[in-house]
Amino acid sequence: MKEKKVVKVISVSLLIGLVLVGCGDTNNLNTKSNKSKSSSLHILPIMSDEDGNLNDGKATYTLTANKNVDVIIDTPNGSWKTPMWRYNNNPLPLVIKASRGDKMTLNFKNKLEADSTIHWHGFKVPAKEDGGPDFPVKPNESKTYKFILDQPASPLWFHPHPDMQTGKQVYMGLAGVFIIEDNISKELERTKQIPSGEKDITLLVQDRRFSTLNDGVRKLQYMTQDMDSDGMLGDVVLVNGSQFPNLNVSTTQYRFRLYNVSNAKNYDFSFDDGREFTIIGTDGGLLKNPVKVEHIELGAAERVEIVVDFSNDVMGDSLKLISRAFADDNMGMGNMGGNNNSSMEGRSPNGTAVDIMQFDVTQKEKDEVKLYETLSVEAEISKRLEPSLADNAGSEREFVMTMKMGNGGMNGGGGMSFVINGKAFDANRVDEFIKSNSTEIWTIKNNSPMAHPFHAHAIQYQIIDRDGVPASGADLGWKDTFLVKPQESIRIIGKFESINQGDYMYHCHILEHEDAGMMGYFRVGSTGHIGN
Ligand code: C2O
Ligand code: CU
Ligand code: CU
Repeated sequence: MKEKKVVKVISVSLLIGLVLVGCGDTNNLNTKSNKSKSSSLHILPIMSDEDGNLNDGKATYTLTANKNVDVIIDTPNGSWKTPMWRYNNNPLPLVIKASRGDKMTLNFKNKLEADSTIHWHGFKVPAKEDGGPDFPVKPNESKTYKFILDQPASPLWFHPHPDMQTGKQVYMGLAGVFIIEDNISKELERTKQIPSGEKDITLLVQDRRFSTLNDGVRKLQYMTQDMDSDGMLGDVVLVNGSQFPNLNVSTTQYRFRLYNVSNAKNYDFSFDDGREFTIIGTDGGLLKNPVKVEHIELGAAERVEIVVDFSNDVMGDSLKLISRAFADDNMGMGNMGGNNNSSMEGRSPNGTAVDIMQFDVTQKEKDEVKLYETLSVEAEISKRLEPSLADNAGSEREFVMTMKMGNGGMNGGGGMSFVINGKAFDANRVDEFIKSNSTEIWTIKNNSPMAHPFHAHAIQYQIIDRDGVPASGADLGWKDTFLVKPQESIRIIGKFESINQGDYMYHCHILEHEDAGMMGYFRVGSTGHIGN
């Protein structure tokens, strides 16, 4: 099994290597300067179903969390080796692809020296299969998660969620991609209404901070929020494990599943020529109507699926995906240099402009994709939940995020405390109680000076409004994570189904905030793991 996967990774990079060599000769005279220095984008390896049959409605995978996996980090300024924590000793984050309706059996083996879990981020599963901190897996122990995928095609992911160690374990390299497909997404691919196959590429964006080079090795540097209230920010932005990689594209449309799985960084993605691109999906699945934009802001843990059109580009053209400069706090452009922490070495504050990756147009090709304009109204994903029908309409549940100086939260040290509704996380307390099968409206308020990506487990949600302004554009998509700006208030709506039973988390997805206590439990139904 493992050998197979390694072979797959190598063959993909070999292929890319050959393509590079093949086209490189023709135009290396004028454009070589910057280009030749970037490495080619790693395509993330797709795991194979252990029962060997992709279409039997059952899928089995084993994920082993390993320490000290040697990973080569390629950058435009050379490469180095970094020991990371990875699943299955694979140098790259792994991808699981499954179909709606599949019965999943997911074996997890913990080879770390600390408790861990696998949390299925964005999944509608019973709480006991959700991989929260209340079901820790001890070192050298295993656990099998079992659930049926019953939700629309979507770009989901998985990561450890142990008590107070989530930030560190994700940072060290433990995270993976989980793509759900369904009849709607497959039909759109078959009828060429969305790009697919080699033109459907997952891009995992993560920032990291590395120690200085020693003997070809740079280690990951991890610090907790004691030292940086903004969370763990790095100065090297990696896409599928490389800094500023390049991808050779043809003159056609491509679909990119853009994941911000950074610990604390937000991005404002756009292209360096300002071109429009199309958002076709959000955290929880496809948009009923694709939306044209020039940029999209993604908080930590948010995802979008975008379609980028290279059909008007000329051979030899290059295009950069960038993150634009933006103000992340309510002190104007404070984070663009004036932040009191910005002198910390290896820390690039939120809002700093950065080049993400490059696309080189190297092949002429006729584009056969005619992007869909609207999904069928019958499609579950197209439906809007009606706020007036919510079970708690009129007495909406409220989640207020605040940061306070002093009293140090759980990490002590007199730093910031990070709380929701005035409370820091308590592993033995359930904070909110929700009836089974109910539809609820939640108000999420940010009463703090920085943006927080609020995340809730259990289901996918819809945004009703932001500061009273009805949702529009990509905000009409299903989501599990919501970037809430300083002093902003958003209302979301979600429908808990019979499968939702037990205790789930809600928290800020700046993982250092979450580990410091900006998290709580909500119970759906009458029983849970905590206190009974
Ligand atoms: Cu992605 Cu509770 O987490
Ligand atoms: Cu989650
Ligand atoms: Cu936060």
